[in-house]
Amino acid sequence: MSPAAAASGRLVLRGGKPLTGEVPVRGAKNALPKIMVASLLTGEDCTLRNVADVADVAIVSELIEAIGGTVERPERGVIRIRPGNIQPMERSVLREFSGRSRIPILTCGPLLARFGDAPVPSLGGCRIGQRPVDFHLNALQHMGATLHEEASASHLTCERLQGAKIKLEFPSVGATEQVILAAVRAEGVTELSNAAIEPEIMDLIMVLQKMGAYISVDVDRVITIVGVRQLHGYDHTALPDRLEAASWACAAVSTDGRIFVRGARQVDMMTFLNKYRQIGGDFDVRDDGIEFWRAGSELRSIALETDVYPGFTTDYQQPFVIALTQARGISIVHETVYEQRFGYIEALNRMGAQIQLYRECLGGLTCRFGQRNWKHSAVIAGPTPLRGAEIHIPDLRAGFSYVIAALAAQGDSTLTNTNLIDRGYENLNEKLLALGAEIVSVD
Ligand code: EPZ
Repeated sequence: MSPAAAASGRLVLRGGKPLTGEVPVRGAKNALPKIMVASLLTGEDCTLRNVADVADVAIVSELIEAIGGTVERPERGVIRIRPGNIQPMERSVLREFSGRSRIPILTCGPLLARFGDAPVPSLGGCRIGQRPVDFHLNALQHMGATLHEEASASHLTCERLQGAKIKLEFPSVGATEQVILAAVRAEGVTELSNAAIEPEIMDLIMVLQKMGAYISVDVDRVITIVGVRQLHGYDHTALPDRLEAASWACAAVSTDGRIFVRGARQVDMMTFLNKYRQIGGDFDVRDDGIEFWRAGSELRSIALETDVYPGFTTDYQQPFVIALTQARGISIVHETVYEQRFGYIEALNRMGAQIQLYRECLGGLTCRFGQRNWKHSAVIAGPTPLRGAEIHIPDLRAGFSYVIAALAAQGDSTLTNTNLIDRGYENLNEKLLALGAEIVSVD
């Protein structure tokens, strides 16, 4: 095996067995790092609980320490941040983090609020579309920041951010978080319309409210923030990862198993649970988690569209499609959030799936990608028996989907670049073994 493959991670799975047992999910990968960034807004200690060991938590910990803060792990699942000595971020520091994650862009608002200066990172993250940051930069400039674009890097400056009326072109999760993190210490009131209202954003808002911020979420997705001069530290327990919980739910129906996801919360997953039941999944909601299984002998096809919250979250799409390959009939999935989120289909078809991609918008939702040459609609014929294959993982959610497909398939599958999965799924191999999966080898 090449050193690159070794460095990127390799997993050989033997499929054909139902997954049964219990897995825990801890703090949401898409909430934890943002809540950690919020600590830049205060000089007081911050404690975050229910922390999962995922890549973005480590990256933000390193970043906070690189600018003078300290990050301690007093016990498993707990992070204590001491941001009292944080200094302005040098360009050289940010270059270390550029390309590793999308989270560093969210430091712009807090660093502008604290120091009046913020370098703009070039971003990493998954290859599921262009994923620009124009919404972020436009919003900060609307609040009074000046963007200085130089050959090697850009940075923002501002005496003091001013509250503003901002309307997002699209309910972007990151841009919503950027505006909120910038507005809480700006002068005056910020009114953000067409905002994203994902549960992870609500969790960030609750943290900021604990810190002393005034934030309201009004009708029609309008978020209003009244800027304050100073914010306190926080002690917060992060919400559980609904995306990982949904991934395990899809693994249960795809392998005809039964999985109890300890920590999963119904309130965050209502839309997913409706669609899950519609295709023939079943679930039992308990105080400490949700149990998932296949209700009858067959899964049923469905017409599905991803959307911003509270719609069917785009991050559910990839594991859900694996289940749809095992459903009887023709399913249609219209991906309206990302233009290139079906990159994983080619490998699935090599495993025996029958999926065709289309440029057309195959659904009723308005969509930015219609007739723009993006294959963002999929038609899935099922059920199709899957067989093991060699698969190189392109992104986080596709990576987990391939794990599900490999476990539902007959024979062995070799997955490379598995480190991408470790970015967002804590202790994956241990969880697979706990569910009875057969891991032939791990490198
Ligand atoms: C967050 O990404 C999540 N990542 C994504 O999860 C999730 O899929 C996405 O929100 C949508 O829900 C994290 O929270 C770390 P966006 P984000 O800004 O904030 C366009 C996963 O697997 N856009 O909501 O980067 C963008 O191209 C990951 O956990 C602009 O055009 O996503 C996309 O089409 C994948 N300009 C759409 O908006 C901008 O400035 C939604 O992106 C910003 C976004």
